[in-house]
Amino acid sequence: MPVISIIGPKGGIGKTTLSINTTAALTRMLGDSLNHDSVCLFDLDLRLPTISSILESHPRKTFYDLFETLANKTYQVDFLQSIYRILTLFQAFLDNEIDSNNAQLQKSLALYKNMNIELFHFSEFSFGNVLQEFFLERGQIHTVKQIKVLKPLLKKIDMDSFKEIIKDRENNSRPVADEFINYIEEYKFSLLGGEVPILGKRSHRKRINEPAFLLLFLEFVNELIGRFKYIVLDTPAGGVNHLSSLMNSIDQVLFIFDMSNSIAVNGSIDALHSFIDYYEDFYEDYKQGRLTGLDKAYVNRMIAMRGQEAVTEILSNKKFGIIFNRCQSPKEISNCLDQLREYLETLDRYDEYKDRIHMVGMVPHHKIINITNNRGTLFYDKDSSLSKCINLIAENILTDNQNCPTLSNSNGEILQFLQKKGQGSWASRFGRIASSLS
Ligand SMILES: Nc1ncnc2c1ncn2[C@@H]1O[C@H](COP(=O)(O)OP(=O)(O)O)[C@@H](O)[C@H]1O
Ligand SMILES: [Mg+2]
Repeated sequence: MPVISIIGPKGGIGKTTLSINTTAALTRMLGDSLNHDSVCLFDLDLRLPTISSILESHPRKTFYDLFETLANKTYQVDFLQSIYRILTLFQAFLDNEIDSNNAQLQKSLALYKNMNIELFHFSEFSFGNVLQEFFLERGQIHTVKQIKVLKPLLKKIDMDSFKEIIKDRENNSRPVADEFINYIEEYKFSLLGGEVPILGKRSHRKRINEPAFLLLFLEFVNELIGRFKYIVLDTPAGGVNHLSSLMNSIDQVLFIFDMSNSIAVNGSIDALHSFIDYYEDFYEDYKQGRLTGLDKAYVNRMIAMRGQEAVTEILSNKKFGIIFNRCQSPKEISNCLDQLREYLETLDRYDEYKDRIHMVGMVPHHKIINITNNRGTLFYDKDSSLSKCINLIAENILTDNQNCPTLSNSNGEILQFLQKKGQGSWASRFGRIASSLS
């Protein structure tokens, strides 16, 4: 289940356009082996999802619904379960059933002290007021012995009815994966994601920064990803900040270099560098057992799903690729390659990474694509020379980049490879210039 992220540091450089067309090409190439679980396009843009409107496909449930479900049901239930555990252990201590050194009790005290109650809906529960008071007392409780102060409060909570309420809420509290997967018959791939900007809602912006909530979200996303053979992520500008642990599920990161914009190119080079650093640090922390918090929880879930060996492989062997977009002349690509090599040399990273950065494809600047009302976005299959460019990208994904040049190839070789598949007028012009460079 390779996960491919099409990413770039800036809006407007072609992430969405190339994600959609690459997904269409991958789907086409799988041919006979194709089924409903083969390919999924995943709109990870929580700020401004656009794919469902571009493809005019409206999922039964969007990620906005997912946030609502997680926030209103899953999160509340998880919270209730944690409180239940805390109350049970505190009560057992007050009843002298366990002593102050009990490890579970110590853990419960820490949980009680650190739980973020901001997103819990106290008013929804009959004992909400008492619970709120229970948390207000936290400032005074520092040691296990001080739990005694809470005795009168605990007396007010009927644990049996508390348990009943949890049971009640547990039913229907988890999102159902199938409801979020939108298989599009016309295109033969599935779409995941949104229609409404999730982060447009203030409480959702808060939630995404809440580790317990974020973990629920990531866990669900991982479950969805696990269902498909190939996943293409349209990854929002600036990486996925709050979703950074999700970056560890990605097998190949394809950076878009927008050749029409030298500032954007500098940004992409910089982004490539930060991902190299991010993955190196993460792998090192993983090996040394230094991961904490969300990252640790996330990796543990990945291991539970795929096994330790697979996870080590995924974390140690990230692939990086480059897609040149909006190309107008091979000279631009050539200059860009030189710039990237020089940049990596300066950082002393060139030797280590020259064979790990693949030149996966190239798409010319084309008026068919550049139509402001989005009608040109899905151009695959409509224009043969453009389709060939996209086929090359999909082919490299399918063959694991085995035939793909890397930074250690010469510019001439790279250009030759990138234009090989395109036979259209633009591409043959490109070819002539490319061969004159090699
Ligand atoms: N190769 C290209 N040639 C012409 N226009 C392009 C090309 N790639 C993208 N565009 C146009 O650029 C705009 C931004 O592309 P988009 O894929 O939405 O970028 P992003 O997802 O990175 O914000 C769109 O109008 C798209 O049609
Ligand atoms: Mg986009």
